[in-house]
Amino acid sequence: MSAEICQLSLDGVPYEFNVEGEFFWGTEGMLYKPEDSVISKTPWRDLGYGVVSAFDATEFEAFRQSIQANIEKAFDVNGIAYNKETFTLGDYHKVVTSDALHLKVIDITRNLTNEDFDFNIDTLAERFGKILGYPLTSWVEELQKSHIQIRINRPSSLDINPPHRDGYLSYWEDVVNVWIPIEGCNENTSLPVLPGSHLIPENEILRTESKGATINGNTYYVPCVLKTKAGNLEMIRPNPKQGEALLFSPFLIHGAAVNRSTATRVSIELRFPKIKTT
Ligand SMILES: [Fe+2]
Repeated sequence: MSAEICQLSLDGVPYEFNVEGEFFWGTEGMLYKPEDSVISKTPWRDLGYGVVSAFDATEFEAFRQSIQANIEKAFDVNGIAYNKETFTLGDYHKVVTSDALHLKVIDITRNLTNEDFDFNIDTLAERFGKILGYPLTSWVEELQKSHIQIRINRPSSLDINPPHRDGYLSYWEDVVNVWIPIEGCNENTSLPVLPGSHLIPENEILRTESKGATINGNTYYVPCVLKTKAGNLEMIRPNPKQGEALLFSPFLIHGAAVNRSTATRVSIELRFPKIKTT
C-alpha cells in the first residue's frame, strides 16, 4: 500500500487529494468495444459522453421532491433534527454537520429501488434507449436489483469518488451510466469526465484494483485511476442543466466531483443495461 497524491485539473483549475492503494499499469488492449457499445450509435461515441433531455418541468419537480423525501426519511431514521417546513437540499450540510452522520445518511440513500420514487425509473430507461438506439432496462441481472443512488456532496468536502471507470466491475461492462443533476449542480460542482478516455488502452492507465483505493478513510468499490500515459487527468465538467442527463460509457473516466460552491450538491446516479436480444 502506498500513499499517493492524485493531481488533476477540473476545467483547467488544479485539484489534488491523497489516496492510498497499490497502483499498477494495465496490460495491452482496450476494454471498450466500439462495435456494440451502448453509445456506438450516437454522434458523441468518440467523446464517450453526451448531454440529453430527460424530463419535462413537471416530471422533474416530482422527481426532485421524491429525492428530497428519501433524504428526509434518512434523517428521520437516524434521528437527525431538521425543520420540515424550511429545509432545502442545498442546506443539507447545515443539518448533517459531521462525517459520521453523513455516512449514516448515505448508507440509506446509496441503495434505493424504484419503489422509493414517485417517478418510474423505467420511463427514463425507455427514453434513453430511444436516444441510444438500444432497448434499456433498469434491472441489473447480475445484481438482481436496479441501481439508484442519490449522490450528496457537501461543499469543500471529500464526498467524492476517485477518478475511475465503472466498467472494471463486470456488472457495469454493458450499461449506460446516467448522471442527473437535482440541486446545486453547476460549473463548480457538476460531475467531471475525461473526454475520450473510454478509448485509452489499459497499458496507458495507472490504477488500483477494485476496492483498492482509500480516500479520507473511505475505501471505494471502483478502482482509482491516478493518471494516464499522457500525464495527469485533465477533466472537464459537461454540466447538464436541470431536466437534462449526462449519459456516458462505463469505460469513460469520471469522478473527483469536488464541490467548489457553498451549497450541498445533490445528483442521482443510475445505470441501465442493454436488454439482451437473441
Ligand atoms: Fe462511477
